[in-house]
Amino acid sequence: MDKFIVDGPTPLVGSIPVSGSKNAALPLMAAALLTDRPSVIRNIPSLNDIHTLSNVIRVTGTAVAFDRQAHILRVDASGLTDAIAPYEQVRKMRASFYMLGALLGRCGEARVSLPGGCAWGPRPVNLHMEGLKALGAVIEMDKGYVVAHAPGGRLKGGRFVMEPSSVGATVNMLLGAVKADGRTVIGNAAMEPDVVQLCEAMNRMGARISGHGTPEIVIDGVDELDGMDFANAPDRIETGTFMIAAAMHPDGDLLITNTDPSDLGSFTDTFRQVGAQVDVHGTDIRVRAPRHIRPVSVKTGIYPGFPTDLQAQWATMMTGAYGASEVTDTIYFDRFSYVPELVRLGADLQVVENTVFIKGPSALQGASVMSTDLRASVSLVMAAMVAQGSTDVLRVYHLDRGYEALETKLNAVGARIRRVTQE
Ligand code: UD1
Repeated sequence: MDKFIVDGPTPLVGSIPVSGSKNAALPLMAAALLTDRPSVIRNIPSLNDIHTLSNVIRVTGTAVAFDRQAHILRVDASGLTDAIAPYEQVRKMRASFYMLGALLGRCGEARVSLPGGCAWGPRPVNLHMEGLKALGAVIEMDKGYVVAHAPGGRLKGGRFVMEPSSVGATVNMLLGAVKADGRTVIGNAAMEPDVVQLCEAMNRMGARISGHGTPEIVIDGVDELDGMDFANAPDRIETGTFMIAAAMHPDGDLLITNTDPSDLGSFTDTFRQVGAQVDVHGTDIRVRAPRHIRPVSVKTGIYPGFPTDLQAQWATMMTGAYGASEVTDTIYFDRFSYVPELVRLGADLQVVENTVFIKGPSALQGASVMSTDLRASVSLVMAAMVAQGSTDVLRVYHLDRGYEALETKLNAVGARIRRVTQE
């Protein structure tokens, strides 16, 4: 298990590129299963989550080849014979559950393991299943597996209203509906850029989807889909992470390149309130840190609201703000495992229900801390970069799931991070 040794404090100064989006790539990979023609997906980050889903997909008899240097993933599902996604693979990553919609859409049947729990508590999949049932799927449970089939071998168009709006369930329904017989309407659909991109990619494959990016998506089923040649979006969460990291040291001056500022929703405006100077030019965002970070409270919400995937990083920045602030997660109530670790570094935070109360500024001091999930891990690295002295961040395998070459990228703009492999 690798750890990072981070020496601080160091400002981030220079130019840092953003990789392709993890969360947007995974639905594209699932969509490539809907056709027997080959697909080429570009701008795919080399991350463990991508490798995990590739392995899940291979179990079906589909060929997946990844060129890490070129960031190109090729999927050829012409040999897809087994409509299964086994527990050994699915338990490693919840997005494997997208196999349910993809396999039902392609084969009219699927046997997909339930994903199980997550480091930050229960993450239900009831809406995924109810959405697919609205398309005629018959679903039973068998020894931890969801066993589903479409009577007559093909799903039928149907109506379903998400409550609450769910990214994952919207993706699964879309995967099932594009080749269903007739029209499907998804109400209160997710509007996240990841969903919009999936719809655009599938429309290029020959799907007939409209309304994506609004709360009502309409899908007219088609008989056949072509393969795709599609460039995946830049990672908006990595972008936001770098913006926050740049602001945390008063000398920070970071040019974040290869990104798509329009995917950030309301985040950029919220971020400006801390006093950072933000200049957006095409695919670049330049962030200059404020002298003193102003306290700004946030509440996570569905897109274009504040992303749950950035709340840990925000709370970490707020430990350096001049005053008190609150971070509330309304999407996942339990996502605060990073809080006791920040307290070990000298921060003043307290969790009450789904809100963390932060008093700043704290002068952070290096210590040993433990990563518990992906966004918690990156937050601890960010804290360590502004802490006085040396910090060991243990269990960085979480980071390798979702941030491509993180220490290489950060070291190139002034961080001092060493990866140490521990037995
Ligand atoms: C969520 C985030 C996504 C982020 C991902 C990983 C939102 C809206 N979604 O996506 O941006 O990348 O975590 O960190 O911010 N729910 C149900 N039943 C279901 C599915 C979901 O009740 O079957 C609930 C969830 O508990 C949650 C809400 O719906 O409160 C949104 O969940 P959803 O968007 O599906 O979560 P993810 O797809 O995991």
